Amino acid sequence: MKTTTTALDLFHDGDVDTNRSGNPHLADLVAERYSRRQTLFGGLSAAGAAVFGGMLLSACDEDDDRRAVTVSAGNAATTSSGRAVSLTGAITGGTASGTGWTQTGGPSVVLSNASSPTASFTAPAVTTPTTLTFAFTGTSTDGVRSEATTTVTVNPAVLGFTAVAKSLADVVAVPAGYSVGVLYRTGDPIAAGVSAYANNGTDGNFGARAGDHHDGMSYFGLSATGTAPDPSSNIRGLLVMNHENISGTVNYMHPNGQTRNSGSGPRPEEESIKEIEAHGVSVIEVVRASGGTWSYVQASALNRRITPNTAMQINGPARGTPLLRTRFSPDGTGARGTINNCANGTMPWNTYLTAEENWAGYFRRDSTDSAARTAAGRAKEVTSLARYGVTSTSGNNRWATTVAADPASTIYTRWNATATTGDGTTDFSHDPFTMGWIVEIDPFNPASTPRKRTALGRMNHEGCQIGRAIAGVRPAFYMGDDAQNEYCYKFVSSAAWSAADASATDRLAVGDKYLDSGTLYVARFNADGSGVWLPLVFGQGGLTASASYSFADQADVLVNTRIAADVLGATRMDRPEWTAVNPATGEMYLTLTNNSSRTAATADAPNPRAYTDTRANGAAGNSGNPNGHVIRLREAGDSSEALGFTWDIYAFGARATANAANINLSGLDDSNDFSSPDGMWFGLPSNVSGQATPLLWLQTDDGAYTDVTNCMMLAAIPGTVGDGATRTVSNTLGGSTSSVTTRVGKAPGTTLRRFLVGPKECEITGIHSTPDGRSLFVNIQHPGENGTAAAPTSSWPATQTGAATGSARPRSATIVITKDDGGLVGY
Ligand code: FEO
Ligand code: CA
Ligand code: CA
Repeated sequence: MKTTTTALDLFHDGDVDTNRSGNPHLADLVAERYSRRQTLFGGLSAAGAAVFGGMLLSACDEDDDRRAVTVSAGNAATTSSGRAVSLTGAITGGTASGTGWTQTGGPSVVLSNASSPTASFTAPAVTTPTTLTFAFTGTSTDGVRSEATTTVTVNPAVLGFTAVAKSLADVVAVPAGYSVGVLYRTGDPIAAGVSAYANNGTDGNFGARAGDHHDGMSYFGLSATGTAPDPSSNIRGLLVMNHENISGTVNYMHPNGQTRNSGSGPRPEEESIKEIEAHGVSVIEVVRASGGTWSYVQASALNRRITPNTAMQINGPARGTPLLRTRFSPDGTGARGTINNCANGTMPWNTYLTAEENWAGYFRRDSTDSAARTAAGRAKEVTSLARYGVTSTSGNNRWATTVAADPASTIYTRWNATATTGDGTTDFSHDPFTMGWIVEIDPFNPASTPRKRTALGRMNHEGCQIGRAIAGVRPAFYMGDDAQNEYCYKFVSSAAWSAADASATDRLAVGDKYLDSGTLYVARFNADGSGVWLPLVFGQGGLTASASYSFADQADVLVNTRIAADVLGATRMDRPEWTAVNPATGEMYLTLTNNSSRTAATADAPNPRAYTDTRANGAAGNSGNPNGHVIRLREAGDSSEALGFTWDIYAFGARATANAANINLSGLDDSNDFSSPDGMWFGLPSNVSGQATPLLWLQTDDGAYTDVTNCMMLAAIPGTVGDGATRTVSNTLGGSTSSVTTRVGKAPGTTLRRFLVGPKECEITGIHSTPDGRSLFVNIQHPGENGTAAAPTSSWPATQTGAATGSARPRSATIVITKDDGGLVGY
């Protein structure tokens, strides 16, 4: 007798007709001994054989009286990508010595507990409904195998949580079924022997503690030996994050706030050193215990703080250029420190990019400065400093007033950029030109010197996201310059991507290959939905000595990226913040957080709204583009090398109650209305959240909707550029009106949902996950930023656990979000 592969519905447990599951007469019959079965088989079509698999051959042997078992593979099921699926098999007759699940069709999945009756898997990423088939086998004590099959239909991904309500509470709220762990707080010690943070202003030694204002962040898997990258490790890694700023005059890190933060007299050194070292970057080792709880390893040899005092190397075309020659590095090949590190970039060769954003304000320029530079033949520097806003006469926190106990120290005086005489190598007048760059860090080598990548230009760098790395294609790196009316950039490497570089051991050398040579472009968004990338190349497009700012060479173009982009006619945007690239499509998203200087007259297709926000109590709120939007573009030919693109606006921030025709253009409702998008990140392609229809996370840094809610994080499954329609917006602001036609993406509806609301006066910024997408790391920045040391306005994260908090001072912190059932976050 031959077996066949045609299934008979009658025996098809859990398939289409679920009423037939465990059909009793079959189960009973099969459990009978050979003599009875012989009769049975004689009366059945051969089609039934598939259900019993290899058992039939022996079952029809006249000499075989071995018993079989009957099995059920459970009901057919329907699910969606990213969801956990349980396969429930059962022995419905007889005694089994063993069971097992195997996949027999559809996209391959990894089965957990495949040898038990209850196996499970994660539904794979699909773009259309897709059927997976599975077989459950029971082996009788006589060694006879019986098999039943079932199917699971997987639909494209949908969000799998109930929207979190807007809130003004002092806690991180996440959906039911999720948990929040607090992992790494301002002041936490990261070296052996450093005391726990007292959090009363008495702690020092921030060079060995977590900095403040956690921001952009990346997780890098760490090998079991603890020495090398392991891109698949979900239980041990290096968490690298930026510490953007300190809470200024409030400053919970001193006993009673800052001393002499204005007026005259020197800042106390013990305060200034804490404040300086609380900026920069942390590298910390993190581990997941078997119970699922994450913690950082205080004494890990890989822990590191990079601060404004850490020596850096200058790389790329501006290395050694006269503007970068300083007292610290007279030949312009090095620089001291990094500051105001905002968003980040995670390189596929296991390095971290940190972006220097609002660095300009830290420098002091006395009233004599412009004249001194001009007298020294350095008048172009005056133009440059003005374009970058280096105009403060005190510098943030007045650090330059600090008198160091060590008379040789210049770590405070270096913040006074006032020119004296000479070429900039005898004073600190060139120090501002050493900031505003993308800096690459090798987190796996604590002794490595970070490299400032000048080829990527100088601006208020928000972050730097690499597009899809495709073998043989030159990769692109997308960047926003966050200030009102600044631009969107991309850098395209000279070198085509080689996958072998992802596992190179000299990671900064790989960075040299991709980040030191290439072309920097700035975006022009046309009203018709097209766009072009304009190259910032000396000698092209008016970037010559004949320009009003007389460019000397490519280094001059890069140091003065903004001035060059002005010449090229780039599009002035509503504060370009984070970029994110959809791993499945390559489409690039850019948050435009808000712009109080947008007017009805300057509203244009890519920045189409100008209005006054109406607060919940009916009062007038912020004006301009107070709620921000998210624009996205698709490169021509889907190529990172493209010189042109098409664009639309994915979503407009707005109150759900705002005018639907001109403000709430994306039709947001209570479940997803937001304001001032900033942080943004797609799930990793190593799990479902970065495949097929990837998950987008959106974080807010808001000052408009804060009468109703604290800042938040939303999850989305966006469509594609061009999935919506053109819309014409009528603007009325300040007595002026305009009508602007723009490109609006399909209204997100239920594909955009609020996932998290943060504590009081915080910003949600910084996000990454483990490769499996089951542990999501998120940063909570500056809770209680408007309070005082004597009267904090937040006590988070002490409030997170519900413990008695008294007047605990708030701290920025990294949290870890996990699903209680261990599933993928968001589904
Ligand atoms: Fe540091 Fe533009 O946010
Ligand atoms: Ca930001
Ligand atoms: Ca911001």
